[in-house]
Amino acid sequence: MKNIMSLLLLATAMEMAAVSITSPNGAFLLNVDVNAEGTPVYSLDYKGKPVIKSSRLGIVTKETDFTKGFHIAGTDTATVDRSWEPVWGEYSTVRDHFRELTVDLKAEHPERALTVRFRLFDDGLGFRYEMPVQNGSNYLTVTDEITEFNYTDNHKLYAIPGDYDTDEYLWSETTFSGLEDALKNYHRHSEAQRAEGLTVQTPLLIKTTDGVYINAHEAALDGYPAMLLDVDPATYSMKSHLVPDRLGVSAYLQMPFNTPWRTLIASDDARDILSSQLVLNLNEPCKIEDTSWIKPMKFMGVWWEMFTGNQKTWAYSDDHLAKPGVTDYSKLTPNGRHPANTENVKRYIDFAAANGIDGVLVEGWNEGWEDWASYRKNRQFLFDKPYPDFDLPALRDYAKEKGVKLIMHHETAANAADYELQLDRAFQFMKDNNYDAVKTGYVGAIIPRSEHHTSQWMVDHARHVIERAADYQIMVDSHEAPRPTGLCRTYPNWLAQESARGGEFESMGGNPPSHTCILPFTRLKGGPMDYTPGLFETRMSYYNEGKDSQAGTTLARQLALYMTMPSPMQMACDLPENYERFPDAFQFIKDVPVDWSDSRYLEAEPNRYITVARRDKHSDDWYVGAITDENARVAEIDLSFLPDGKYEAKIYEDAPDAHWKDNPQAYRIRTVKVKPGQKLRQPLAPGGGAAIQIRKL
Ligand code: NOJ
Ligand code: CA
Repeated sequence: MKNIMSLLLLATAMEMAAVSITSPNGAFLLNVDVNAEGTPVYSLDYKGKPVIKSSRLGIVTKETDFTKGFHIAGTDTATVDRSWEPVWGEYSTVRDHFRELTVDLKAEHPERALTVRFRLFDDGLGFRYEMPVQNGSNYLTVTDEITEFNYTDNHKLYAIPGDYDTDEYLWSETTFSGLEDALKNYHRHSEAQRAEGLTVQTPLLIKTTDGVYINAHEAALDGYPAMLLDVDPATYSMKSHLVPDRLGVSAYLQMPFNTPWRTLIASDDARDILSSQLVLNLNEPCKIEDTSWIKPMKFMGVWWEMFTGNQKTWAYSDDHLAKPGVTDYSKLTPNGRHPANTENVKRYIDFAAANGIDGVLVEGWNEGWEDWASYRKNRQFLFDKPYPDFDLPALRDYAKEKGVKLIMHHETAANAADYELQLDRAFQFMKDNNYDAVKTGYVGAIIPRSEHHTSQWMVDHARHVIERAADYQIMVDSHEAPRPTGLCRTYPNWLAQESARGGEFESMGGNPPSHTCILPFTRLKGGPMDYTPGLFETRMSYYNEGKDSQAGTTLARQLALYMTMPSPMQMACDLPENYERFPDAFQFIKDVPVDWSDSRYLEAEPNRYITVARRDKHSDDWYVGAITDENARVAEIDLSFLPDGKYEAKIYEDAPDAHWKDNPQAYRIRTVKVKPGQKLRQPLAPGGGAAIQIRKL
């Protein structure tokens, strides 16, 4: 009798097991089940074909195993269709439309409970673990997450290595079977900073052998470490690899806890990957009540001068310090190569004011650079101690009078612990001196020393800084912070992040033209990047005869980047004197908006080309950006997106003989009449691009 009862119970449990839902448009089918070991599994089909084969789910903690012995105790489904208005971005309204499946899992001996919440959108899947209050321990030490993504074939992968500390790499276009060789070509920072084995970072892009594009990433990373992916090329499978601290612990959790969402954006049309808002949709709505102080901006910087190779320094002196704040700077010898000085900053302010550029970033303004730059002894900066040649009160008043905002720089040298201690003082100091925006930086190994740039502690640190900044109404552009996962929806004062190999590498070997044809498919799915476009002098030998490196771009392409690399905090990175050499091309940077009401991806193929049209949030003007890799190309620009009317298009394009390598500054500007529905055939030079401003007549 007892046996029959338990057989019956087992049968009910098994019947309850398999559940499935489809996406609102029916393109995706999700199946969720529990396997013979009681491990939850899921699979995903797209247009009738498997994309993800049966893949396991679960979390391993030191205290309890959340991977086995489960049965489905209950399920729930819902359909949600709503929309929201971002403070800034690519669209003025974002539709959030999905079917939701909640699967409650229970296990006995010991008692455990785990919920997995799935959201199936027309453009992909998101799911997360929800760990309710347990009957046992409620403080859990996570050592592993076993989430699998079992693919179906030897697909193409666009990948960078799973480094715990940096993402400033060029992308490899490879396959599962080629990955091991591809990753051998990377020089990683140090052994201590690398994940062992075959590990890649997210956002990762996959192109299946039958032409489906998949972006794998995460959304709403908070209170948990970043996820890398361990790859098994033999079985085409991937498994989550949580960034640990140096004690091997990935996360210290208190129940109840919700993990970040694991995301798969998928489509057989590459343009859908670029237009997808899935990652933002999975983040919490804006937590800042009054957002009127959050203002998208263009800025210049006392910055590129230090990268060009002409010996300019962030440090005021070449002498060494006893300690910042203790050393008497009046006794140090100025090195004469320090551009963050009052006179030079005024020059930038004047130029910005004359050209309608909103802000000026100044790096190297504060005490601490002397020894850090050479990694001698200090890993501390003082965020309220300007150098003696940086007259802050005078510059504050001068900038105000000229209607330009100074942008603060907080390089922490990765001493994040010390930054937290100084944070309130630093932000108050900014407000006292009329600063509204800060660029933060974390170059080096993180202090406290058991942490990595993308471990739980640093993820928490980044959110803490953003929340404190919001308290002071400060906007943030963070460098070397954990890769973005759409938290800028919740905290729209987080205007931009670096978190990838930026334009500054043009002075350190160069970025191939394909680099900006892959970033929008990968890194940008988490949020805007401070890529620093606008480089007009692309030959490093111009500054320093000894340098032969050459930026992988034409001048016209740099203008196109303002549309293909959208960011509400967009730099015009070059020196004022270089913009003065090309005033007609600079006119585009003066005109281009940084906030959009609509975006249409017209053409796209990862690592090859992107053509996008965007509508200015504050006018009826449209802007088109088209870029190509190292191959020349003719972009097909279908103007069907234009509403009825007559328009004039001002085209900034590569000259017929332009080439990124030996003729990058050959460009032309022409104005033509265009009408809705017309198709423009726009030639792009090797490594080139075109930027078009379309105005209603
Ligand atoms: C690295 C940042 O990415 C760069 O933009 C900055 O100038 C340097 N650190 C110095 O802080
Ligand atoms: Ca950097």
